[in-house]
Amino acid sequence: MELFEAIEKRFSNRKFLDKQISNSDLNKIVKAGMQAPVGRGKYEDMHITVIQNNILLDEISNLTDRSVFYNAPTLVIISARDDGHGLDKENSACVAMNMLLAATALGLGSIYLNLVIGLIKENKNILKKLSLPEGFVPIVGIGLGYADGSHIIKHSIDVNYI
Ligand SMILES: Cc1cc2nc3c(=O)[nH]c(=O)nc-3n(C[C@H](O)[C@H](O)[C@H](O)COP(=O)(O)O)c2cc1C
Repeated sequence: MELFEAIEKRFSNRKFLDKQISNSDLNKIVKAGMQAPVGRGKYEDMHITVIQNNILLDEISNLTDRSVFYNAPTLVIISARDDGHGLDKENSACVAMNMLLAATALGLGSIYLNLVIGLIKENKNILKKLSLPEGFVPIVGIGLGYADGSHIIKHSIDVNYI
């Protein structure tokens, strides 16, 4: 899929089919994340965790009654280490955006997730299971899978051309 088509077609998918994505698609999405711009080029301060283990996915899902990752069969957690420049959130969002567009280009459903991050950070047991390197903190979650339907909303943001 061409880039502008992927940008048009990306939407936050909140209903996933019970079907896992292929390793080939997953690798392309992870690589797209790695191609993102990162402040000061400090890629060593970024970390990507791919969770497809159903036991761990269920444990995360059971942390709350709310649906925080919509039973996506693949949950990606983007973590970062703040080196004092406070760019960890921006960097993680850049990595996430590349991954969302790559997933769309591959015909997959995806969603940017924030709520799940708060829950994971609060739960020491789950946090430990992520085996993050020392000093890394989860910043962004992404749900990936096959979309059950579509929900494209046209957005508008005020622009001032000066
Ligand atoms: C920083 C950020 C945090 C978000 N967190 C969540 C979330 O925790 N749960 C959720 O369902 N959607 C979340 N979203 C998705 C937004 O609600 C969604 O992108 C927005 O409503 C626009 O819809 P669209 O993505 O379908 O175009 C988040 C998006 C961003 C950029």
